[in-house]
Amino acid sequence: MTDAITYELMGDIAILAANNPPVNALGYDVRIGLVQGIERAEQDGARAVLIYGEGATFFAGADIREFGLPPKEPFLPDVCTRIESSPLIVVSALHGTALGGGLEIALGSHYRIAVPSARMGLPEVLIGVMPGAGGTQRLPRLVGIDKSLDIITSGRQIGAGEALELGIIDRVQDGAPREIGLAYARELLDMGAPRRAISEMPAPAPVDFDALYDATLKKSRGQLAPAVAVRGVQASVELPFAEGMKRERELFRELMETDQRQGMIHAFFAERQVGKLPELKGVAPRPLADIGVIGGGTMGAGIATSALLSGLNVTMLEMSPEAAEAAKGRIAGNLSGALKRGKISQAKFDDLTEKALSLTTSYDDLSQVDLVIEAVYEDMEVKKKVFTQLDAVCKPGAVLASNTSYLNIDEIAAMTSRPGDVIGLHFFSPAHVMKLLEIVVADKTAPEVTATGFALGKRMGKVSVRAGVCDGFIGNRILSIYRTAADHMILDGATPYQIDAALEEFGFAMGPYAVGDLAGLDIGWAVRKRKRAEGLPEGARDFTYADKLCEGGNFGQKTGKGYYDYAAGARARVPNPDVIPFIEADRAALGITPRDFTSDEIVRRYMASMVNESAKVVGEGIARRPLDVDVTLLYGYGFPRYRGGPLKWADMVGLPGLLADIREWAETDPNFWQPAPLLEQLVAEGRTFDDLNKESA
Ligand code: COA
Repeated sequence: MTDAITYELMGDIAILAANNPPVNALGYDVRIGLVQGIERAEQDGARAVLIYGEGATFFAGADIREFGLPPKEPFLPDVCTRIESSPLIVVSALHGTALGGGLEIALGSHYRIAVPSARMGLPEVLIGVMPGAGGTQRLPRLVGIDKSLDIITSGRQIGAGEALELGIIDRVQDGAPREIGLAYARELLDMGAPRRAISEMPAPAPVDFDALYDATLKKSRGQLAPAVAVRGVQASVELPFAEGMKRERELFRELMETDQRQGMIHAFFAERQVGKLPELKGVAPRPLADIGVIGGGTMGAGIATSALLSGLNVTMLEMSPEAAEAAKGRIAGNLSGALKRGKISQAKFDDLTEKALSLTTSYDDLSQVDLVIEAVYEDMEVKKKVFTQLDAVCKPGAVLASNTSYLNIDEIAAMTSRPGDVIGLHFFSPAHVMKLLEIVVADKTAPEVTATGFALGKRMGKVSVRAGVCDGFIGNRILSIYRTAADHMILDGATPYQIDAALEEFGFAMGPYAVGDLAGLDIGWAVRKRKRAEGLPEGARDFTYADKLCEGGNFGQKTGKGYYDYAAGARARVPNPDVIPFIEADRAALGITPRDFTSDEIVRRYMASMVNESAKVVGEGIARRPLDVDVTLLYGYGFPRYRGGPLKWADMVGLPGLLADIREWAETDPNFWQPAPLLEQLVAEGRTFDDLNKESA
């Protein structure tokens, strides 16, 4: 026996307890322990076996850290089959999260009991694979095709109540998993319950699997795993059980070899790594109970909503009582969304809007808050005034945060007598929905202030990324470059519609021009005006077509027209016929003869510009690690998760090829295509961005 599974014989019931913290992942030691435990129970003359997990959870799945390494026997499907084929009655008692291989172990058992809070699911598609230990063969026999496909292709977790209703588990009972499991096994033995193997149950009736495959592929926007999982379920219907298991394994192995699997597992670990910063080790955050929000527009109201939902008291400061009431209306509107979706009760809604939220027009009312977030108009002079006032009224130790999306936090901090307390907290709109939070650490920001930013992000359920000070921080700085690459392609002959289509095909939820229409074209217009006023870099290519759209009052979806015409609704995106003539006028004025672009070239240029700027951001220390950039793009910019993030994608397609492209394009536009020193260095040393992630871990 291994330490990961302990064995105990209690009368005629053998107990196999998993001890593999933190989540009892089914690594080699656990798998071998389970097989040996079953053998020993049989040898010891036990009549039943109980399997349960010590600590926080039943098995939360296969050990993802073993993925990509040579597999070691016993393989998980064989472990499940060994459990199921035992002549003893095998009971699994579930608590915590019985996911993936964990649920498959339970399905290999003959009876399943769970505590009410237990959650279960087959989330393999979320890490780019599919169930590989009988999940696609046993679950359909238990719950039918529709339900099993819903669970397997979505990867969603279901609660114990739903699992009981579906027949995935036999009983829900409160108590310690060991105690309820033992009592259930005793009861089954006493009543002479039969051994019950799901593999021996009849297969469900056939359905049109080709149609289901196509529909699933379409829905998952290029991600393969959910569709391939449909083929696994198909095997449960068309093949005898043992053959179906083999087919499932083949499909699982195919997915294991894909870049998509690598990308999704990278995303899984990167989002867990992103909040772990060496500089914050052992640094305690300051306490947070009351926060202030300055400015109740869309952004401020979203931040306030998120803060209220995370249990903080919020004081909202506005310029006038009317504006404060309007802010409250926005917050109540946001919260009523949570109410409608059943996330909060009416009583909670009333509590948050009437008790936890207070309105004010006086800075004096911010004197006792623990943290204040300014979300006023993006103008340095306005921000400076706000911070001067905060410095005058806030208690010592209060964290003073700006939600600016590009302004220099060092300059803002310099307006106060306490620059160590000043930090950037860059939320993304709508702030109560979007998961990304950039925590912008200025020159003088104290470590515990940074730690407080991360603590706030965690409390709000955000994915927080540390960023340094520069124009646009991590995300918006990189965005402005790849947007420019797209704009250049338009000048040279592509259309916004071709570019959107190529990038949506690549896996982005929306192409950049559709995103522009959604966010509001006036934002980019303001940025272009500011940059022109500051003076464009020498040799920069400028254009007017986007300005002309805005000058005509076309700001995108909110005005009904932008790059697209939304007269028939947002979904029916129809190109706005005014756009191409504006573009043609620019080309004529610049003396450009338009050329054709393939989708492949569009993606290559767009992605190369993104990777190059990302490498600059990492090289300059604005992002500490490549994974910080990946997480930023995944959570704030609709980057397809199955490609892992721009720098993981770059590693997978190969850095030398990307650099060669950039060097080639630099010959015609040396101003825009300047290779990042870090990219050149990695290519010269034959290393990858992920090597840098590993070195920093
Ligand atoms: N294999 C290896 N390590 C795993 C793991 C797995 N299946 N699941 C979680 N971990 C690790 C995490 O990386 C994390 O490690 P760290 O502390 O070094 O960062 C630790 O376990 C705790 O996980 P975390 O996600 O931070 O805890 P949580 O309580 O928020 O969530 C789970 C727990 C199990 C719900 C979540 O980790 C999860 O969804 N895991 C993946 C489950 C899965 O996909 N299983 C199917 C695999 S085939």
